[in-house]
Amino acid sequence: MLANKKNKIIRSPIALQKFSQKMLAQGKSIGLVPTMGALHKGHISLVEMSAKNNDVTIVSIFVNPTQFGANEDFAKYPRRLQTDAKLCAEAGANIIFAPGPKDMYPEPLQTRIHNSALETLYCGKYRPIHFSGVLSVVAKLFNIALPSKAYFGEKDFQQLHLIKKMACDLNFPVKVIGAKTIREQSGLAMSSRNEYMSAKEREAAASIYAGMLEAKKLYKQGVLSVAKLKNVVEKKIELAGGKLQYVEIANKKDLIPVKTNVSKNAVILLACYFGKTRLIDHLEL
Ligand code: PAJ
Repeated sequence: MLANKKNKIIRSPIALQKFSQKMLAQGKSIGLVPTMGALHKGHISLVEMSAKNNDVTIVSIFVNPTQFGANEDFAKYPRRLQTDAKLCAEAGANIIFAPGPKDMYPEPLQTRIHNSALETLYCGKYRPIHFSGVLSVVAKLFNIALPSKAYFGEKDFQQLHLIKKMACDLNFPVKVIGAKTIREQSGLAMSSRNEYMSAKEREAAASIYAGMLEAKKLYKQGVLSVAKLKNVVEKKIELAGGKLQYVEIANKKDLIPVKTNVSKNAVILLACYFGKTRLIDHLEL
């Protein structure tokens, strides 16, 4: 670690690239934690992991417009750079990269990265441009920050899978590391979007994890039917007042949907609404 309790905010991609080149020339390892800010303990766990394992930790904070659909929450997404910067410093980050949209996109992107197999499944079915926006901005961040390791949460299970695949397919010299989901005491996965919910909705949203745990218990007891396992999750969430967008079971290695019976290495993936808030979660079976 280079310094502690203090970090520097860099806005310019070129300035960060120069900084990273200098660090690499000095033989320092760089860890990158890409975020959209409004940081919570889930994000901070990634920053701490990076700070522990790298000489320099860069946290990027950028609400990336190209991954939001026209009717999504880009405008209302919470932004609080100073508070975030302080949390990052306490967790051992050295640099905050906080560009504005014009710094990242001085001109509209004409080059985007797609995953032809998986970007239209699961969340991609309901958010058609989302994953190409994510992959494209993460590729830019890799090229700007020049990390040897980059840290992402399993919370966004499909996102993590697609980023790993991109790094492998396109030979990015970056090790993509996935980290466990941090949950609230109720079991609700921490998310910057949780703050959109009322206290009541937040309480009811604990049914997401509870429903998945119930399905896992059945699976462990020998229930292999995808329909039955999905049904348990669906019922639990709907009974609590949530509205399911999708619940699917996939092979966790390649994210191919499991159609009838679950074998090994499966994961439940889902998205649902509590009020107007869209939440995603997953659980390995
Ligand atoms: P954001 O939603 O801010 O998440 C940043 C990182 O924190 C992601 O890797 C996400 O999986 C991780 N994360 C979020 N909640 C978590 C939790 N409860 N436990 C552990 N990790 C958690 O994901 C994005 O931003 C963007 O799509 C981004 C990759 C930055 C590209 O714009």
